[in-house]
Amino acid sequence: MENQNNSFKSLWVSISLISLAIFAFLVWWIYGKETADGSSYPWVSALPYINCALNSLTAILLCLGVSLIKKGNKTAHRNVMITAGVVSAIFLITYLTYHHFQGDTKFLGQGFVRYLYFFILISHIILSMVQVPLILGTFYLAFTKKWATHKKVARITFPIWLYVSITGVLVFIFLKSF
Ligand code: HEM
Repeated sequence: MENQNNSFKSLWVSISLISLAIFAFLVWWIYGKETADGSSYPWVSALPYINCALNSLTAILLCLGVSLIKKGNKTAHRNVMITAGVVSAIFLITYLTYHHFQGDTKFLGQGFVRYLYFFILISHIILSMVQVPLILGTFYLAFTKKWATHKKVARITFPIWLYVSITGVLVFIFLKSF
């Protein structure tokens, strides 16, 4: 039992360290490094729309996956959750590609909408950092068949992952509208 607890702890420490490294890399990628010239690649301007579509798809898959397990459909739940993970991984690639060519985008709205936008953006950024170890851990707990703990952790992972994907769409809509 003691041994199992220790290996569990070191697993969470490793997952958290990996997540921290991913986050540090993202901050450097978006805010630190020089952006490349994307003017000869017209598809770059389509990437925010693709990112928005991928975030929307993730949100739909997450709701579908959880409603399936509530009905007891374990195989469909597993398949839909794995698909949500793959869609999020594709999102990460298209997001990084976009930010390779384009640094951060300025929000031009003023007044109340500006406070609202930054509340959404900051909560989105903080929770996108929190969600990485939770998602990796929830998958790990499922693949190692630790169902009771999977259920406990997944009930935290699900709303956070859903919030991050929905607010990703909202940030895009705000940037396009103001
Ligand atoms: C990060 C991805 C995942 C999330 C967010 C997630 C979410 C959830 C949630 C919220 C529950 C509890 C439902 C309830 O309240 O009754 C649950 C249960 C369950 N999940 Fe997942 N899940 C994920 C991945 C997986 C995967 C990959 C598998 C299969 C390999 C899986 C298999 C199961 C099973 C079998 C249960 C039922 C456990 C039990 O009742 O004993 N899940 N999941």
